[in-house]
Amino acid sequence: MTVTTVRVPAKVNLELSVGPVRDDGYHDLVNVFHAVSLFDEVTAEPADELSVSVEGPSSVPTGPDNLAARAATLLAVHLGVAPRVALHIRKDIPVAGGMAGGSADAAAALVACDALWGAGLDRETLLELGAQIGSDVPFALLGGTAVGLGRGERLTAVEVTGEFHWVFGYADGGLSTPAVYAECDRLRAASGRTPHWPNVSDDLMAALKTGDAAGLGRALDNDLQPAALSLRPALDSALAAGRELGALGSIVSGSGPTCAFLASSASHAGELAASLARTAHFAEVRQACGPVPGASLV
Ligand code: C5P
Repeated sequence: MTVTTVRVPAKVNLELSVGPVRDDGYHDLVNVFHAVSLFDEVTAEPADELSVSVEGPSSVPTGPDNLAARAATLLAVHLGVAPRVALHIRKDIPVAGGMAGGSADAAAALVACDALWGAGLDRETLLELGAQIGSDVPFALLGGTAVGLGRGERLTAVEVTGEFHWVFGYADGGLSTPAVYAECDRLRAASGRTPHWPNVSDDLMAALKTGDAAGLGRALDNDLQPAALSLRPALDSALAAGRELGALGSIVSGSGPTCAFLASSASHAGELAASLARTAHFAEVRQACGPVPGASLV
C-alpha cells in the first residue's frame, strides 16, 4: 500500500459526569460520547522520516507533540519498525474546541499507519494503544454512541434508535482541557461540596434507545459546563440564544468552548443553524448528525 486515508469524526458529550480528582491527576468519569458528522481526514504516505503537515488552522502543532505524530510513533514502537511516514491532516473539527479533534487525529493516524505498514492489528490492541495517547482516542476509533468509564477510555457501546440532528457553534479561540478540569476542581472546592460519584442518567439512556430527541434535549448534562462558563462567561448568553431560538437542548461540548444545540429534525437543524449564524455569538455555525462510525479507511 502506498497511501492510506482515514476519515474520523468529532464527538459531543451527551452526559459528562465528573467525579473527584484521582491520585494520577485524572478524574473518574461517566462520559456518554456521541460521534457526529464533522470529520478530520488523515493521510499516511511512506517517507524517509516522520513528518506532519496540516491543512486548516495554523494553531495545530506539527512537531512531535502533535497527537497524530505521537500515535504513529507509538504504533511503530509497538510493531518494532521505524515511523517512516508523512502524515497529512485535513482539519474540519475545531481546534481546542471540546470536540476531541486532536484525539480524532491520533485515532485516524493509528488506523492509517496500521494499514500502511500492513500490521492488521485487532481493534482491542488499537484501543489500548489509543488509550495511551489520550482519554478520548479510544472513542474516536469506536464511534457511534458509547459510555466511557475510568478516564473515559473504558468503552461500552450504547444502543441508539435513529439519528439526532445537531447544530454546533464554534467560538473564536479554544479552551485548554486541563485548565477547564482545574477550574471545575476550584469551583467545587470553593463551594465546599464533595464531588458526587459519577453516574449516568436513566432518562438519557431511555431517550437514546427510543430515538426521543425532546427527551435527549432535556437530559443533556455536562459537569464541565460551569467551569467552561466561568472561564468564558460569554458562553452563557450563547447557550441561551440557542434555547430562545427553539433548540431542544443546549450544552457546552466537553471542555468547550464549542456549544452544541439539539434540533428535532434535519430541517429544524438547518433553520436553527441559519438563525444562530445571524447572531454575533459564534465565529462559525455548523450542522451535523449523529451517531456516525469511528475512524475508517476511505
Ligand atoms: O487524556 P487526555 O490527555 O486527553 O487529557 C487531557 C487532560 O484533561 C488531562 O491532562 C487532565 O488534566 C484532564 N482530564 C482529567 N480527567 C479525565 C480526562 C482528562 O482530568 N478523565
